Amino acid sequence: MARTREDTQSVTVSEAEIAVHWKEEDYYQPSPKFIGQANLTDPGIMERFGLDRFPECFREYADLLTWDQYWHTTLDTGDAPFWKWFVGGRLNACYNCVDRHLAQHKNKAAFIFVPEPEDEPHVPLTYQELYVRVNETAALLRDFAGLRAGDRVTLHLPMTPELPITMLACARLGVIHSVVFGGFSGEACGIRAADSGSKVLVTMDGYYRNGKVLDHKANADIAVATAAKEGQTIDKVLVWRRFRDRSASSTPMVKGRDFLINDLLPKYAGQRVQPVSMDALAPLFLMYTSGTTGRPKGCQHGTGGYLAYVAATSKYIQDIHPTDVYWCFADIGWITGHSYIVYGPLALAATGVLYEGVPAYPDAGRPWRIAERLDVNIFHTSPTTVRMLRKLGPEEPRKYHYHFKTMTTVGEPIEPEAWKWYHSVVGKGEAVITDTWWQTENGGFLCSTKPALDPMKPGSAGPGMPGIHPVIYDEEGREIPRGSQKAGNICIRNPWPGIMQTIWGDRDRYVKTYYAKYNKNPKSTDWRDWPYFAGDGALQAADGYFRILGRVDDVINVAGHRLGTKELESACLTVPEVAEAAVVPVQDDLKGRVPEVYVSLKPGVAAGKEVKDKVVHAIETTIGKIARPKDVRIVPDMPKTRSGKIMRRVLAAISNTMETGDVTTLANPDVVEQIRELVQGKGKVATKAGPEDIKRFGDER
Ligand code: PRX
Repeated sequence: MARTREDTQSVTVSEAEIAVHWKEEDYYQPSPKFIGQANLTDPGIMERFGLDRFPECFREYADLLTWDQYWHTTLDTGDAPFWKWFVGGRLNACYNCVDRHLAQHKNKAAFIFVPEPEDEPHVPLTYQELYVRVNETAALLRDFAGLRAGDRVTLHLPMTPELPITMLACARLGVIHSVVFGGFSGEACGIRAADSGSKVLVTMDGYYRNGKVLDHKANADIAVATAAKEGQTIDKVLVWRRFRDRSASSTPMVKGRDFLINDLLPKYAGQRVQPVSMDALAPLFLMYTSGTTGRPKGCQHGTGGYLAYVAATSKYIQDIHPTDVYWCFADIGWITGHSYIVYGPLALAATGVLYEGVPAYPDAGRPWRIAERLDVNIFHTSPTTVRMLRKLGPEEPRKYHYHFKTMTTVGEPIEPEAWKWYHSVVGKGEAVITDTWWQTENGGFLCSTKPALDPMKPGSAGPGMPGIHPVIYDEEGREIPRGSQKAGNICIRNPWPGIMQTIWGDRDRYVKTYYAKYNKNPKSTDWRDWPYFAGDGALQAADGYFRILGRVDDVINVAGHRLGTKELESACLTVPEVAEAAVVPVQDDLKGRVPEVYVSLKPGVAAGKEVKDKVVHAIETTIGKIARPKDVRIVPDMPKTRSGKIMRRVLAAISNTMETGDVTTLANPDVVEQIRELVQGKGKVATKAGPEDIKRFGDER
């Protein structure tokens, strides 16, 4: 495939556009060995999934599933933009992920559970055992908790086998699960439980995090109280035990409300529950995302379309075969875990690693020891984890004898610097990398290279997936010419099976958030009038690859020039001493906004003026003097969410002497005060109200 190298610096931009200064990177090719075994090697796939074949092309994805009843209409657009996929079809998601594999794979591990303490043994869970445990749990949820198809139940669970077991038990009954990330606070859980109308909360007494057993049951009490304040009664709290022989929590059980699942289960031993045949359109689960304003949104995903989409993308992009050992190093409490730890891989009879703990516990060699021991050959993680492992142990992967054939990243743009380390050191120069761009709302990947067909390009997600037709619009709704390398708002022209069905209980908000901006006619039932607005800035290079610049509200407007935050951060990372960088806007009388840079340094590097000068120099040379930061702050660590995303909003608030807001749900709330003192000095400093754009700055997703 002949592709030319482009240089984006030659592109001119008007003041209304986001200035882009990324350099194009060279291509990396997949190895013949990889191509020889790949699931997707037919270059005709893009033609088969062309817009002229839409929507019927997606039949091919749905055919990966076992249907109780085949559908009659592939896509019904009558209630646009509430898309209905595979109408008339019936199936059960749990049956597709478990039962149908028993004939061939009952003795194969569905999951291998790796507890955080290194001296606790790995626990393989075969498909047969998964089947038995899911059935018994389903019997308990139905007969003890009284749950029926269509009911919602909130799951606040850590990364142990009980989480996918409970999800699959719900799916078996047609009960809609709403998993709240285990690291979220009790309040956050309670608000989501109330929004979903859950009467039952499933939790665990405790779990390991960074070497300590956390008392998780305490969160359940807060969640129930918070939900009550919101008007929702949770009448049953079902508690899994982390340990067989002891409690991991000192929080008392509330009589008549709290029940230990492990005590109840023996009653259901050996029971089998018939999988409930569900309408393809029945909601499978809710997954809450937070925007910068307002309540979290319950993204509602349906059964048939969602499952078809995640099964196909797991097969063709992650290249999962039943013989592989696949490790998605994410938490099931996020959409990545739902789609690419549970539903997609299990639909393909994969063997997946389920790791309880934090990446670098007890040291930065841990992930590679796990990979070596279990002979993992597919690895999936986020740029944040890549950067962190690079910071803590840049040489560690070389010490272990594992071999990845594919590696995936997701969640944020990956800087070419970090990508290259991931490729050469973690992937030992052998693995194919797919940089997958998508969102909670989307169900599965939207842009990515196809691993055996497209060369990789560091920093670029790649072309639209088969059947996904991205387009970039400017603010006024004009289409930015394909391949022009000009930035704008990336949208998807057409619906696809993995797209969410609605925001739970808020149809208007769904239409407003994702479609109103570029909708051509609110009454139209033609999908062509309803491009999906993703809220991300992006540009497309001449080769058709999309580069994602981050959320559209993450841009810094300096003297009328909009600079992509990620771009500045990437420049900082070219300084060898820098481990992580975050850039935020600061109010400036002359220029409106100027960037301020926060960096953390690699271990053993002394903080000093020399490093700061290097950072300024890197920004000036890669982007220009216009981007010169007001200051470079060297901090011990970045404030991060429990999922590892840097909270730029908090840093922006500190830089602008504004209220930082609630930081208690962060992974490291203490660092916020340290950074505040560093920037504002000791003692209490009066905070200002601050302008809207800075208040809204930084994604909290
Ligand atoms: O800004 C994009 C960024 O993450 C956002 C979606 O976040 P969330 O709904 O939490 O889902 C994360 C996992 C799917 C997007 O709007 N994002 C996600 N993947 C990428 C990315 N940015 C750049 N490159 C990616 N590969």
